Amino acid sequence: MELKEKIAAKLKEETALQQNYVKQLKTEVAILRDKLGRTPTCHVTTFGCQMNARDSEKLLGILLEAGYEETESEDADFVIYNTCTVRDNADQRVYGRLGVLKGFKNKNKAMKIAICGCMTQEEVVIEKLKKSYPFVDLIFGTHNLYRFPQLLCDLLQTGGPIMDIWKDTDITVEDLPVARKYPYKSGINIMYGCDNFCTYCIVPYVRGRERSRNMEDILAEIKCLAKDGVKEIMLLGQNVNSYGKNLAEDVNFAKLLAKADAIDGIERIRFMTPHPKDFSDDVLEVMKNSRKICDHIHLPLQSGSTKVLKRMNRKYTREQYLKLALKIREMLPDVAITTDIIVGFPGETMADVEETVDVIRQVEFDNAFTFQYSKRTGTPAANFADQVPEEIMQEGFDLVLKTVQEMAKKRTALLQGKVLPALVEEVNDHDPSLVTGRLSNNTIVHFKGDASLIGQIIPVSLDVCQGFYYLGTRQ
Ligand code: 5AD
Ligand code: SF4
Repeated sequence: MELKEKIAAKLKEETALQQNYVKQLKTEVAILRDKLGRTPTCHVTTFGCQMNARDSEKLLGILLEAGYEETESEDADFVIYNTCTVRDNADQRVYGRLGVLKGFKNKNKAMKIAICGCMTQEEVVIEKLKKSYPFVDLIFGTHNLYRFPQLLCDLLQTGGPIMDIWKDTDITVEDLPVARKYPYKSGINIMYGCDNFCTYCIVPYVRGRERSRNMEDILAEIKCLAKDGVKEIMLLGQNVNSYGKNLAEDVNFAKLLAKADAIDGIERIRFMTPHPKDFSDDVLEVMKNSRKICDHIHLPLQSGSTKVLKRMNRKYTREQYLKLALKIREMLPDVAITTDIIVGFPGETMADVEETVDVIRQVEFDNAFTFQYSKRTGTPAANFADQVPEEIMQEGFDLVLKTVQEMAKKRTALLQGKVLPALVEEVNDHDPSLVTGRLSNNTIVHFKGDASLIGQIIPVSLDVCQGFYYLGTRQ
């Protein structure tokens, strides 16, 4: 058998196996329900990015199918933390909250605690969990997330503890239950992993090598979502515009976008995250000719200094980034460009930060996430000798943030007085007479309305600019 056929056969076998475990789980949860005299409750807590949010929908889908009931509180019979480790503060939040979970477990002997996601792929984390958090019952990683039905079944049968971490995988089972958080929008994984090895980033180590899903499988999933009433999809990957590189078929991200664009029922298409080094003109052409692809490109800059970019292993220069961003501005004037910026990367001086500030001013980002550099064990940059002292990092961060906010306000204000379609996402938390909608370019608008509008795309006039968002009126 060829390798491709072998993998296909393995995928079929694993899918059947896990689907079977989902069935077995129903029996296990029924036994638990009889023992407790009530329906067991579950809670999934997500840390980190859109990929993790999507994985959590898969975890919850399996729990609900098995017979658990979801609860808002972490004081539940089964709690799982789907973790992120991209920056150290994400790790610290998990450790802090595990302490709270221990308190709940002391009161509820039936409680089971699980941890999965990016943190658990790190050896230092596993050591710490074993030593200081022995009350965690189930630990698994990113590569075997699809084995959750089997692992949970084993846990319920044996009582645990269970730990199963893989170094990598060649398959990902997709045909398992999913509980979507929103009825009107959904993420879709188009690829897993990352091969870029930016020197600050832990992702390639915890998410493994880049693997694209077959285009036909992705399109079939989108069609299913459309049938289910989903209006907005987000194509997810660490590096979406290298989609298809490891596939035998002749596909790429532009082709996938064009095919997704042709699916009836889907009204909005977003994607996250492209890498500037791979962003080709054909994607911009598809965007230009599409009504559905949203007016938003998140294009991580990281730094505006070529010297820093080189040490980050980003594989583009300040000039190349500027050329790309300004081309987008010219070709697609309505598109909002947002970005990620890291301040305080080893060796960065205030002169480098000034170069970043200059790029922010030239591109006029519509919004940006600004991060202080966080040293991640195992990445090349963690061993760079010239780590930046905390005070200098803070000074650079404040300057970058101030510039980002100034530009974001300027760009948001440009929409004043326009009438644009907004997808209504929820009733406003603070004022229940308002609903919150999202424009194609990702700007938020609040306006009078009620829950019946959720999931609808309706025209809204943008009346009052409140800095980064609008107050509007339904038209
Ligand atoms: N320190 C700070 N920020 C980081 N990011 C990734 N790794 C680190 C790190 N070690 C940021 C990058 C990336 C975003 C998802 O997180 O800006 O684009
Ligand atoms: Fe990390 Fe760079 Fe991959 Fe993004 S492209 S996930 S920053 S290594």
